[in-house]
Amino acid sequence: MYMVKVGIVGGTGYTGVELLRLLAQHPQVEVAIITSRSEAGVCVADMYPNLRGHYDQLKFSVPDTVALGACDVVFFATPHGVAHALAGELLAAGTRVIDLSADFRLADADEWARWYNQPHGAPGLLDEAVYGLPEVNRERIRAARLIAVPGCYPTATQLGLLPLLENGLADPARLIADCKSGVSGAGRGASVGSLFCEAGESMKAYAVKGHRHLPEITQGLRRAAGGEVGLTFVPHLTPMIRGIHATLYATVVDRSVDLQALYEQRYADEPFVDVMPAGSHPETRSVRGANVCRIAVHRPQAGDLVVVLSVIDNLVKGASGQAVQNLNIMFGLDERMGLAHAGLMP
Ligand SMILES: NC(=O)c1ccc[n+]([C@@H]2O[C@H](COP(=O)([O-])OP(=O)(O)OC[C@H]3O[C@@H](n4cnc5c(N)ncnc54)[C@H](OP(=O)(O)O)[C@@H]3O)[C@@H](O)[C@H]2O)c1
Repeated sequence: MYMVKVGIVGGTGYTGVELLRLLAQHPQVEVAIITSRSEAGVCVADMYPNLRGHYDQLKFSVPDTVALGACDVVFFATPHGVAHALAGELLAAGTRVIDLSADFRLADADEWARWYNQPHGAPGLLDEAVYGLPEVNRERIRAARLIAVPGCYPTATQLGLLPLLENGLADPARLIADCKSGVSGAGRGASVGSLFCEAGESMKAYAVKGHRHLPEITQGLRRAAGGEVGLTFVPHLTPMIRGIHATLYATVVDRSVDLQALYEQRYADEPFVDVMPAGSHPETRSVRGANVCRIAVHRPQAGDLVVVLSVIDNLVKGASGQAVQNLNIMFGLDERMGLAHAGLMP
């Protein structure tokens, strides 16, 4: 049986360790390299005891593009800018790249530069980068050499709104995404806002005037709608470790459409989108640790404002699980491989 040889750049962060947890159960993947500049030489199982018994020989190492270039595929679980610097060299070596950061998510290099306050580091690669949302781009992902894994808010929001926009049902000018995230969404790096005493027992909105995920979400919704969209996106920080809860509002004037049937049909063949029965309220805890987006669609008081509830685990369907799903598609494996487990309850 062929084993896909994998490298991971940025193995000490939350998406890096989540990749390791998921890949430990993947029967056709061998993790050959995992990098960390600060923990080089440390065994991964010493830093993350949940991995004891899975990667006992594997140590963090300093990123080395020659060694990484001997892998079949390299994941980047790093802050933005790192994949810009290294992806070109790896692609030239014949290694495919799955980037979990925002480096290749926006098709327009100038727009990326405006939102990230620095010049785009690899505009020449944008043409071949494929946005790794399998529910939209599965065929392109199969042949891709470079994948931009969608962000967490963008995954929950796009999957929730796509059926309405693809079918021209929602007023594209008046969309609202009211989203809540757990604190792991900010990564493992120390920051005051992520401290227990700052984030616990409280909830707050942030970046209301413009969050970096806004241009990514609108880019995806524009493609679905076939034209311009107007989106108000308000992210919130909530006192949980994992999870995104997106409450999405769209005006659907045509009240004759069976929205439940529409959503069920759109996602009937999708292994990782679960359209819940009519009247449901999906919970973030039902997707904790699982590569699932759970969706419910409501039309309160039979009015023209439709409310879609969409939940994911930010570290799984919102990052590392979706990245593994992309790997499976790229290497012709069963898309569910290594990802079939249920969420953790309670
Ligand atoms: N957290 C989430 O829920 C989530 C969801 C979707 C997407 N993402 C994206 O995924 C990426 C990783 O997120 P995270 O939350 O896992 O971040 P994180 O916890 O802050 O970890 C970042 C990792 O990158 C490494 N790193 C930092 N600078 C580097 C450099 N210049 N060169 C090589 N390695 C470097 C760090 O290790 P060393 O410094 O030791 O090398 C660390 O292992 C980010 O771009 C983030 O936006 C995160």
